[in-house]
Amino acid sequence: MVMWVFGYGSLISKAGFHYDERVIGFIKGYRRVFYQGSTDHRGTPEFPGRTVTLEPAPGEICWGAAYKISKEEDAETALTYLEVREKQYDKKEYLDFYTDLTATSPAVSGVMVYIATADKKANVNYLGPASDEEIARQIIQAEGPAGPNRDYLFNLEKALLQIGCKDKHVIDLANEVRRILEEEQ
Ligand code: SIN
Repeated sequence: MVMWVFGYGSLISKAGFHYDERVIGFIKGYRRVFYQGSTDHRGTPEFPGRTVTLEPAPGEICWGAAYKISKEEDAETALTYLEVREKQYDKKEYLDFYTDLTATSPAVSGVMVYIATADKKANVNYLGPASDEEIARQIIQAEGPAGPNRDYLFNLEKALLQIGCKDKHVIDLANEVRRILEEEQ
């Protein structure tokens, strides 16, 4: 059975598993937000980093990359890998994936997406909304085994621009981080 995985964060630029096809497109009804805390990849329990999750947003779309994994053994390996990498994301959704803004039917149905929900019981690391400045300062301070949190943000900003997506939330946060870093010099 063919498996599809949709990436909207670090998965856009770094899949980390073997795939047969990478397709740029979007899902509907969600917005990308830097609301998830990371204590295992881009931060520590003392200084949690922030990574993106999806927040339900009727009428909005979220651009990213969908990966097609055709072979069963590749799908098993990918899933095992992703379950570790995305272990602070408490929910897997299976959504419709579109490549065309005017299309009424999806390009692929049932793409797997990792989501970190706002349910603090199921997702103890959830941080939620804050001002751009507060989020930016948290990102500047945080570093984890996967590297500085600011690199996660800058890599995502770049990956989104490469796929032609101008995500205001991501760009505003990246600009705020750059502003604070310049100020601190
Ligand atoms: C994703 O990229 O789809 C999930 C969030 C992340 O790993 O950055």
